[in-house]
Amino acid sequence: MIIAVDGPTASGKGTIARGLAKHFSLPHLDTGLLYRAVGYQVRLTGGDPDNPLDAASAVNFPDSLLNEPLLRTEAVGALASRVSVHKRVRAALLARQRIFAAQQGGAVLDGRDIGTVVAPDADIKLFVTASLAARAARRLHECRTRGEDAALPDITADVARRDERDRHRSEAPLIQAADAVLLDTTHVTAEEALAQAIHIVGQRA
Ligand code: C5P
Repeated sequence: MIIAVDGPTASGKGTIARGLAKHFSLPHLDTGLLYRAVGYQVRLTGGDPDNPLDAASAVNFPDSLLNEPLLRTEAVGALASRVSVHKRVRAALLARQRIFAAQQGGAVLDGRDIGTVVAPDADIKLFVTASLAARAARRLHECRTRGEDAALPDITADVARRDERDRHRSEAPLIQAADAVLLDTTHVTAEEALAQAIHIVGQRA
């Protein structure tokens, strides 16, 4: 069983994907982390995230980088969004994601283009969304929990900028697959959203 979970930043898709993986005993891949590693590697090597060649050479980041706590920061998220527009970066990461999706027994993958590009034949596709205000408030809470200095207007602008870039890029833009189930988490808790997702998957599995 392959479960694809897509959605914009701070929609709750990561929490839902992790929860589904645990509930159905499936391996989980947070594909955003791969793009974050590329963005971080570009910076480490002094490259320009908007330059396609600099970004493409950063796809060979060491696996140990995936454990770097700084990958979770807002600054690295913004770098990830910039490197993810480049075709060569996406092509290099695609193979890695498809290998993960193809493992026996299935997998849960979350990202922006899982249901449309990485695993278009996924058994279940969820598109998780929430209002900009709700997502910015959650992102602010996450930043403060990590001890990052953050203000709501800046976070809101950053989330909106990332949405804009992810939705309007030419390569694999963020879009709900025609056969994806929409899950709006604006007015529900993380626990309620996960329970809804488990119910949807249970019905279709
Ligand atoms: O999900 P997360 O916020 O960690 O993703 C960081 C960035 O990586 C996103 O804003 C998006 O630009 C990019 N990304 C992507 N395709 C994916 C996952 C993430 O383009 N499948």
